[in-house]
Amino acid sequence: MKLLKKGAEADIYLTRWDNLPAILKVRKAKRYRNPILDAKIRKQRTIKESQIISEVKSYGIPTPLVYYVNLKKSSITMQEIPGKPVHDLPDSKIIELSTEIGRLVGMMHKNGIMHGDLTTSNFILYKNKVYVIDFGLSQKTIKPEDHAVDLRLIKEILNSAHAKIMESTWKNFLLGYKSVVGPTNYAKITNLVSVIESRGRYATVV
Ligand SMILES: Nc1ncnc2c1ncn2[C@@H]1O[C@H](COP(=O)(O)OP(=O)(O)O)[C@@H](O)[C@H]1O
Ligand SMILES: [Mg+2]
Repeated sequence: MKLLKKGAEADIYLTRWDNLPAILKVRKAKRYRNPILDAKIRKQRTIKESQIISEVKSYGIPTPLVYYVNLKKSSITMQEIPGKPVHDLPDSKIIELSTEIGRLVGMMHKNGIMHGDLTTSNFILYKNKVYVIDFGLSQKTIKPEDHAVDLRLIKEILNSAHAKIMESTWKNFLLGYKSVVGPTNYAKITNLVSVIESRGRYATVV
């Protein structure tokens, strides 16, 4: 088994399942957390991730197939999406894909799912399709405030990791998002994003 990535929360291995290449995501113990609480958190995130990764497929969102869940080890074995994270694509491609990413986020929100960790590393382009991964922090919520938190995070990521193309990616993202959630929800949620931002600015001034 080959270690692909050591993340803050989980280690990612390339393995095989039924002779197919597969990804093993193992949530590691955090020593700074109380061991009982830590085990509970890892188990809960593993359950959440495996459930929501499958649920959103029925809304038309491409995600890896879940092959196996081991709650004792807090691990998920899933289909490998052998593409490239959007984060690592050329700027022109990221600009182009931003509308699709906005559409995918709109589809989650429309169906009452908040992703919780919207970064450009959690979208993988494979065979011209954008796959969404990393649902460990996702939640079932129809609250506009929660959806606004999702948008605020991806906006922040575009602003920091993709600063040079922030304007065009954010514009395209919003176009895609609006086309799915409709103008009323769009206005409500983007207003809440402004509210969060004004609070942030206020907090840094004080
Ligand atoms: N199913 C998958 N197919 C291909 N690559 C994956 C898959 N799952 C994870 N990865 C790779 O591992 C990285 C980390 O996985 P992720 O689920 O996002 O965990 P983390 O919580 O550490 O961000 C991803 O950004 C991606 O590069
Ligand atoms: Mg991730």
